[in-house]
Amino acid sequence: MRKISFSPPDITEAEIQEVAEALRSGWITTGPRTKLLERRLAAFIETGKNDVDTESDVSRWSNRVVCLNSATAAEELNLRILGIGPGDEVIVPAYTYTATASAAIHCGATVVFVDIQKDGDAITHMPEMDYTALAAAITEKTKAIVAVDLAGIIADYETIYRIVEEKKELFHPVESDGTSLGDLNHRIQMAIGRVAVLSDAAHSLGASRTFRGEKKYCGAIADFTSFSFHAVKNFTTAEGGASTWKPIEGVDNAEIYKFFQLLSLHGQNKDALAKTKLGAWEYDIIGPWYKCNMTDIMAGIGLRQLDRYPGLLERRAQIIAKFDATCDELGISHLVHCINDSSSSGHLYLIRVPGITEAQRNEVIEKMAEQGVATNVHYKPLPMMTAYKALGWNVENFANAFEYYCNLVSLPLHTRLSDEDVEYVCETLRKVVKDMDLC
Ligand SMILES: Cc1ncc(COP(=O)(O)O)c(C=O)c1O
Repeated sequence: MRKISFSPPDITEAEIQEVAEALRSGWITTGPRTKLLERRLAAFIETGKNDVDTESDVSRWSNRVVCLNSATAAEELNLRILGIGPGDEVIVPAYTYTATASAAIHCGATVVFVDIQKDGDAITHMPEMDYTALAAAITEKTKAIVAVDLAGIIADYETIYRIVEEKKELFHPVESDGTSLGDLNHRIQMAIGRVAVLSDAAHSLGASRTFRGEKKYCGAIADFTSFSFHAVKNFTTAEGGASTWKPIEGVDNAEIYKFFQLLSLHGQNKDALAKTKLGAWEYDIIGPWYKCNMTDIMAGIGLRQLDRYPGLLERRAQIIAKFDATCDELGISHLVHCINDSSSSGHLYLIRVPGITEAQRNEVIEKMAEQGVATNVHYKPLPMMTAYKALGWNVENFANAFEYYCNLVSLPLHTRLSDEDVEYVCETLRKVVKDMDLC
């Protein structure tokens, strides 16, 4: 029997060497490696290439990406840069991980859940929001919509932008409270002039989709985007994440970047690197803010992961092709990761066994585990969770999310799987569903 784990990190000697060099360099917190990773990610998001020479034109790629210690921090800072807080509503799909919603709650905003389309998107089957329900959920208090590129498939932002444009007259930009951050919040909301479109891209670094007639990479579509580099993700820094945003007319990227730095480092107006300049000890604290910066040790892992990332994406696509063939043969519904205008990052492989109950789904998971194959469920809808039930949400009002979840299994999809492992997962699935007489 083989032992197939669900999503172990894919770390090579290259990452280990870079971390060792970071440790030996004497600079282990936010420093040159973090700044380099930010520039390289900015180039990757714009071009889809990981080998752009970002150092011959540093200013072109600076102030575009902020590396942080998690996607949760990135999601929260995206909302805080926008000035979203008490009295505001943030719309979130009911079918996602808690961080999509909890970041808004941390800011004091009210989360409004929207159900997904029945059986997900008609072509990709990704559990996308029901866009009629989304339009109906927008009120005069709505300040942001957070779409989720679940499993690495980019959501339908053209539709989301069309909806927020149509509802523009309901939008009231926040007034400045007289502070420098409050002034920035006001100017950003004025410039956007409608409900902001945020992307929870925790799964989708490197995915692309045609947007307004052009191929765009994840990070260049929503107003603000958050990525996760957590250990289970396609691209990891152990823990980690990043924010990026589309240029905002009349607001300098350098100013937005500066406020991300302030928000992520205690509101301290000089970071450790700036304080190393001779005699430059003095700093001010301009806001009692957060501590969620990336360290150079983490960035070292990320730099070498980025070198390997196109190859990692390619390997995921090969595994997905094998899973697709097996599921099609068995009559099992699965996500469609690549279609004409959209190419996913292949983060998760979700299958739905037709007609089975929640209990039968759990039995499939147990039987796969007995054969050494770890599977999972992405996700149990948030209105089923204790914290969100306590806020008054009830999954009975999210019938599509519940139905999607009931017969869902996530197969192990990662780049440590050999061809034989992939074959073993397919064979185990075949055996389990046949033994249980499900297909
Ligand atoms: C959809 C989604 N959003 C956000 C997060 C949070 O990521 P992090 O652990 O980097 O904060 C996750 C993590 O699994 C996720 O799956």
